Amino acid sequence: MEAHTLAPEEHFIRDEPYYEPVGQEIEIFEAAYQNKLPVLLKGPTGCGKTRFMEYMAWRLKRPLITVSCHDDLTASDLVGRFLVKGGETVWVDGPLARAVRAGGICYLDEIVEARKDTMVVIHPLADDRRALPMEKLGEYGQGS
Ligand SMILES: Nc1ncnc2c1ncn2[C@@H]1O[C@H](COP(=O)(O)OP(=O)(O)OP(=O)(O)O)[C@@H](O)[C@H]1O
Ligand SMILES: [Mg+2]
Repeated sequence: MEAHTLAPEEHFIRDEPYYEPVGQEIEIFEAAYQNKLPVLLKGPTGCGKTRFMEYMAWRLKRPLITVSCHDDLTASDLVGRFLVKGGETVWVDGPLARAVRAGGICYLDEIVEARKDTMVVIHPLADDRRALPMEKLGEYGQGS
């Protein structure tokens, strides 16, 4: 069962990460954050996407939840699932649910690798609904 639980990086970044802006990305990200808009980072390997997210999480004082997307990733991996623990069935939040509950920044690394059936849970969160439906749990988490 443990093999099914994702262990994404989830942390508050205490020390300021070294980040050299290349344009107005800090202002743009802050404006998106204030307006609750998702941001898509696109660029070649090593261009600073991960470092930028660490820097912005530090700057905005929000926890950073990183998920590496791949084509085996399911919607349940992101949202959560019921697991049997010591004879009891317990719900375990996935990284997306934890990010929504914590008001954190969810960094979906390599999101282009995610399957369509996985993207279905990201759409309602990223579009104007701004919510994460957790059907199996019967919850409708409002994102921030
Ligand atoms: N703007 C920047 N300011 C400071 N350091 C940077 C910047 N851009 C890149 N770096 C340096 O380059 C390294 C690689 O950047 P990073 O890991 O953020 O790239 P990436 O875009 O996430 O790449 P990948 O697509 O391979 O994950 C960082 O560890 C950092 O040392
Ligand atoms: Mg990276």
